[in-house]
Amino acid sequence: MSYLVSTTDNLNIFHKRNLCYSEAYSFLLKQYAEAIDEGKVFSITPWNNDTCGLFYAKKDDKIIGVIVYDTDYNERKNNYILGIIFASIDKDYRNKGIYSKLYNQLEHWGKIEGFPVLGTLIHKNDSNFMACMKSKGFTHIMYKTIKYLDR
Ligand SMILES: CC(C)(COP(=O)(O)OP(=O)(O)OC[C@H]1O[C@@H](n2cnc3c(N)ncnc32)[C@H](O)[C@@H]1OP(=O)(O)O)[C@@H](O)C(=O)NCCC(=O)NCCS
Repeated sequence: MSYLVSTTDNLNIFHKRNLCYSEAYSFLLKQYAEAIDEGKVFSITPWNNDTCGLFYAKKDDKIIGVIVYDTDYNERKNNYILGIIFASIDKDYRNKGIYSKLYNQLEHWGKIEGFPVLGTLIHKNDSNFMACMKSKGFTHIMYKTIKYLDR
């Protein structure tokens, strides 16, 4: 079930607690494929259809942006951590504050749900998203290093 969580200037923001059968799913797949081709994300499917949720933006009945989140259980700390798995805005609508609107709804919901932190992994090639998250008050806390053993 999708819930309308905000409406401004004919822009509707919806929240759905799981990705399954979302009306934004094909938009998400197309944007993710584009991000792979641009080298901003890995060639994997990082989300779980049942446990991940999403906030998405619709203008004039067209999906124009999405944030996918997941909730990871931290056994040692006995709490859940909220993470942004993927975010993308339609090319024609970037730099107009759409991501900020989606992000604000996610953060608002995360606080109400009592999550202690909100985090995201950012590809090293994605300086744009890094700048974007810094503008939301995020700080860079670690480097993830990998070596490909098989591709
Ligand atoms: C990253 C992305 C989601 C941002 O969406 P957007 O709707 O254009 O972002 P907004 O207009 O809401 O801007 C959000 C904030 O980031 C800042 N910002 C965005 N790009 C920036 C840049 N290159 N440098 C500095 N600040 C930047 C904006 O100034 C704004 O700051 P504010 O909240 O203080 O005003 C969008 O560019 C996108 O879809 N990129 C392609 C997909 C992608 O790479 N996703 C990330 C991988 S998960």
